Amino acid sequence: MELQQWLFPQRFFRENLKLGEGGEEGRENDIVRETFERTGASVMGKRMFEAGEQGWPEEAPFHTPVFVVTHEKRDPWERPGGTTFHFVNDGIEPALDQAREAARDRDVRIAGGGATILEYVNVGLIDEFSIALSPVLFGSGIRLFDGVDAGRVALDQVRAEPTQRVTHLSYAVRER
Ligand SMILES: NC(=O)c1ccc[n+]([C@@H]2O[C@H](COP(=O)([O-])OP(=O)(O)OC[C@H]3O[C@@H](n4cnc5c(N)ncnc54)[C@H](OP(=O)(O)O)[C@@H]3O)[C@@H](O)[C@H]2O)c1
Repeated sequence: MELQQWLFPQRFFRENLKLGEGGEEGRENDIVRETFERTGASVMGKRMFEAGEQGWPEEAPFHTPVFVVTHEKRDPWERPGGTTFHFVNDGIEPALDQAREAARDRDVRIAGGGATILEYVNVGLIDEFSIALSPVLFGSGIRLFDGVDAGRVALDQVRAEPTQRVTHLSYAVRER
């Protein structure tokens, strides 16, 4: 949770996760809101979904279709507030195709976790990714880019914005 401490005081995040009213309304809050507003559909791995299934409020915080890449067969799970989780069993590319169609003119966000993001990076299906770099040191844990195909994937920095608590970094992804 330390990694995400910067998020919890943000007004948009608090309201979307039903954590309570009020909160900060500075640049951090704008970045969170802008990310939400540009997203027309999300894709996520099954483990991220499982954590959220326990933790998200009944009105899940996406308010769009969400495509869960998984081996588990399950009917769509519709939540109040516009989020429907669809479970996709035939791999990351069909999940992305369905998400693109659902998102129409907005972006598809590969929400996480790291394993699923990496699958998309390695096959060249990511246009851009963002990192919120937190000032937290870990002695162990999962490396964010463990398993990346560095011979194939190259990055161009498109944004670097320090805010009060973290540094927001965005990279365009291209084939090396
Ligand atoms: N707090 C946050 O905002 C946030 C965001 C993202 C992640 N997280 C955390 O990150 C962790 C999860 O990340 P993770 O990287 O370990 O896992 P992940 O990417 O969320 O999920 C991996 C799982 O998704 C399914 N999957 C992935 N690719 C697939 C494919 N091509 N075909 C079929 N199924 C596929 C498999 O599950 P099955 O075989 O079981 O179907 C796989 O074990 C959790 O602890 C979560 O809480 C937190």
